[in-house]
Amino acid sequence: MRKNIVAGNWKMNNDLAQTQTLISELKEQSKTTNAEVMIAPSYVNLWSAFEATREGGEIEVIAQNMHFAESGAYTGEVSASMLKSIGIKTVILGHSERRAYFNETDESLAKKVDAALEHDLRVIFCFGEELADRKAGNEESVVGSQIKNALFHLEASAFKNIVLAYEPVWAIGTGETASPEQAQDMHKFIRQTLNDKYGSQVADDMTILYGGSVKPANAKEIFGKPDVDGGLIGGASLKAEDFYAIVNAF
Ligand code: PGA
Repeated sequence: MRKNIVAGNWKMNNDLAQTQTLISELKEQSKTTNAEVMIAPSYVNLWSAFEATREGGEIEVIAQNMHFAESGAYTGEVSASMLKSIGIKTVILGHSERRAYFNETDESLAKKVDAALEHDLRVIFCFGEELADRKAGNEESVVGSQIKNALFHLEASAFKNIVLAYEPVWAIGTGETASPEQAQDMHKFIRQTLNDKYGSQVADDMTILYGGSVKPANAKEIFGKPDVDGGLIGGASLKAEDFYAIVNAF
């Protein structure tokens, strides 16, 4: 059975004090919901965020990225085992900002996915087309190859630890959201792509999130689509009230 998930990607926002303040505000808002709730603070605040959410248990703290190597001379990087050692269970991989500004490729992402799964980390794997791809009508071929190149070397059983996040690049941080129909069409295509390779069990069980300018005002309509199982939220995850308005859209 697939799950509903709402994950807040804080990106490079919030210092230690701001992280602690936002978490206490989130805890005030939080109550039993129909979705799993996650937040992804910066690396430097992961441990304090993890500690701050330990009580109450509803908010899972997750990482925004990791390196594929186990350890070694990779200045500035963090490994899967380091994340595991502080209690992190889930990592976002392949965000379009990582692809665009830090040269992450399908090939390097395949290695990161393998490393994360070897360490029993759940992966939220992000992908999505650019505006030019959509204008040219190539969005399905772009998304299809991003998924195939980074994930289709895996066994079917690996997919129980994977969540997919469709994030059209043209909708991230722009205020322009994919319409609920555009999101549904793409999510259906993604599920069909999984079905063609791995069969209906993997496809039906896959949680597929939408990301890109999700706000309290549009969350309900987007999450109402049958193949949309939740959201990866950037800007609106930085305000407790807005984030929980989105969570409560379920
Ligand atoms: P946004 O970001 O909600 O600010 O558009 C989404 C994301 O990058 O995950």
